[in-house]
Amino acid sequence: MQIYKTTDYHDMSRKAANIISAQIILKPNSVLGLATGSTVLGIYNQLVEWYHKGDLDFSRISTVNLDEYKGLAPDNHQSYRYYMDQNLFHQININKENTHLPNGQAGNVDEECARFNDIIEHLGGIDLQLLGLGRNGHIGFNEPSEVFEKGTHCVRLTGSTREANSRLFDRGETVPEYAYTMGIRTILLAKKIVLAVSGEDKAEILKEALYGPVSPAVPASILQLHPDLIVVADAAAANSICFSGEECV
Ligand code: F6R
Repeated sequence: MQIYKTTDYHDMSRKAANIISAQIILKPNSVLGLATGSTVLGIYNQLVEWYHKGDLDFSRISTVNLDEYKGLAPDNHQSYRYYMDQNLFHQININKENTHLPNGQAGNVDEECARFNDIIEHLGGIDLQLLGLGRNGHIGFNEPSEVFEKGTHCVRLTGSTREANSRLFDRGETVPEYAYTMGIRTILLAKKIVLAVSGEDKAEILKEALYGPVSPAVPASILQLHPDLIVVADAAAANSICFSGEECV
């Protein structure tokens, strides 16, 4: 595990974007696993900026996203497909056909999970998976549980996750109760994982995830077992884990 402690959100975004850029430059046909949410927004803004400067080419890149709300259409402003289109895909030269998310409107849950697993398998797996960290330790929408779910599945979101995510919904809109998510096994099979964490409210859960027992009660704790995990955290999030230069650079 490599931990980068950065000064602030902007610095965290830049560092994580640098790592993703290196991946794209070294392997122009990379399969990137992507996340949504507040933490990764600055990373996408930075990648878009470097694309416009001519430093990055996404034409041969494929992407698979971690998750999607069940029931939401792609053009619903709260869907993760809409988020990705607006914040990244429509601003770079990626081939839209090479961008994959679970279909929130699929009629059959099992078939949709199988379809999404197949896509990842046919792409040959994920080269670099970008992750944010939920306040309860979730990754993707793998919520605290008694078991680690392996492949894509449909989950009932916890009250705390729905409450945390309600900040992104307009008044009167309700956060969907269910979502599709990539499973833990698929995430762990990614060749490289970049965990981006920002803010004081994530400090304790980050410490628990990285140094506590590996348990499905804290899904992110499984990342301790990954051979190439890079944590990029701003100072507010990293303060409880970085006491000396030995742990963190
Ligand atoms: C979203 C996702 C989630 C978020 C997590 C942190 O695709 O997979 O696990 O990464 O909920 O969200 P923010 O960054 O909004 O705190």
